[in-house]
Amino acid sequence: MKFKFIAFGALLALILSACAVSNKSISDTDMGFRGDLTNDNIAARDINYSAEPAGMSKKFDRSFENAPPFIPHDLEGLVPITKDMNMCVTCHMPEFAADSGATPIPASHLYDLRNKTDLKGILHDERFNCTTCHVSQADVKVPIKNNFTPEFRDANGSAKSNLLDILNEGVR
Ligand code: HEC
Ligand code: HEC
Repeated sequence: MKFKFIAFGALLALILSACAVSNKSISDTDMGFRGDLTNDNIAARDINYSAEPAGMSKKFDRSFENAPPFIPHDLEGLVPITKDMNMCVTCHMPEFAADSGATPIPASHLYDLRNKTDLKGILHDERFNCTTCHVSQADVKVPIKNNFTPEFRDANGSAKSNLLDILNEGVR
């Protein structure tokens, strides 16, 4: 009996607090950091993407171990990547990288992960559209500070990837 009474009290408290919360509700046009999100108010932010030519830029550290690196250089004339035109590979394929000074495309991109097959230097189709995963670096002021600090197990992990070497770590 005593237990039922407590349970009823708890339920009542829950209903009351739910009412209190719903009173403080905010309108759906009033959410987010830009405030009014009605169509008229949505404009792309003025973002200062890196405009340095390839070879002249300062690279950002990797966001975490084996994160895709940001593109540190200007993309003028390099995008969009199409079926017939991919400028990225002309500098980044390992056979051209030494001459262009670009970071060579890593082993993981020359490998078919699904079928566990080394493609012997051929770029896997899933890696063809570089900008699906690699995005331009930009100096952006963010509304909320990000307190995430990556831990790199490799001494140069903040500037270099080794995904294919460690992919099966911990897998039996
Ligand atoms: C003219 C040659 C050239 C072309 C074309 C080119 N890059 Fe680069 N890329 C470079 C060089 C050189 C670097 C070395 C860093 C720099 O820019 O100073 C680089 C750096 C990068 C990096 C950073 C690598 C790292 O280790 O942090 C990424 C990612 C990248 N490029 C992606 C791309 C993508 C995607 C394209 C096509 C849209 C592209 N690049 C086209 C020359 C090129
Ligand atoms: C499906 C997502 C994806 C696509 C598409 C992709 N990459 Fe990457 N890339 C990654 C990730 C994740 C890493 C870091 C881990 C690794 O090495 O695989 C990386 C790493 C790199 C690196 C750094 C290598 C190093 O030694 O540190 C370069 C350069 C690069 N990619 C270039 C390219 C270029 C050029 C293309 C297009 C031809 C491309 N990537 C397409 C996800 C992608």
